[in-house]
Amino acid sequence: MNLEIAKNKINTAARVAVLTGAGISAESGIPTFRDAQTGYWARFSPHELASPVAYEKNAELVWQWYAERFITCQTAQPNAAHTALAALEQRTALTVVTQNVDQLHQRAGSQNVLELHGNITTARCEKCSHVQALSPDFVPPPICQKCASRMRPNVVWFGELLPRAILEQAWKTFEQCEVALVIGTSSLVEPAASLGRIAKESGALLIEVNPEVTPLSKYADLRVSSSAIKGLGALLGEYSR
Ligand code: APR
Ligand code: ZN
Repeated sequence: MNLEIAKNKINTAARVAVLTGAGISAESGIPTFRDAQTGYWARFSPHELASPVAYEKNAELVWQWYAERFITCQTAQPNAAHTALAALEQRTALTVVTQNVDQLHQRAGSQNVLELHGNITTARCEKCSHVQALSPDFVPPPICQKCASRMRPNVVWFGELLPRAILEQAWKTFEQCEVALVIGTSSLVEPAASLGRIAKESGALLIEVNPEVTPLSKYADLRVSSSAIKGLGALLGEYSR
């Protein structure tokens, strides 16, 4: 399939499903999970910090890492790939399913966003599950306004279950779409890794935007081997910027 046909399909599709991963925010300056960490954090891998075991062992350290990443995400700006998707949503029924916790899709103007891994802008009470927004100058760990217990980052860690209702909606979105766009994800982590394949098996056109080949690549009708900004610029043309 060539780019022109794919562009046309996107323009005429009644339902478009998008899956994004860390790669779409890389050009906003947010490091991907595979990028080496810098400074003090270079000695840890994200897998060693984003887990219930790590939190149990050293909650202070884990919170320190999240507090820094929270600032990075707050300071970052949505890029042209995020805004292109928000603009396309004005024209067609489009849902963004994201593994990112940075909220850049929402800040770019996307309304239909399903966050598979929670978000970094809120904390969740360890005792009563109350969720509250983090203020830019919060001192970790945040304390629950309802019951005064310690709160944890409101994200899904390695080894934890994804929020069931959101996952079911994501599944349905990919089963029912006409075009599936998978952008900037290594397609290694389940169940997100399967969403593109589900769309394809249900008859959708599958397009992957990623500079690297992934396990999903072999199923794609079209692979756009470039960065998210460049790839979506080529695919969505007038919708970007
Ligand atoms: N544009 C598009 N894609 C890019 C860009 C870019 N500018 N830069 C990097 N990529 C691609 C990489 O080739 C890689 O395939 O983005 C992907 C990033 O992969 P990961 O860091 O594994 O991020 P992601 O797929 O979102 O990870 C999924 O796994 O590590 C866990 O919970 C974590 O949410 C995360 C999940
Ligand atoms: Zn509480």
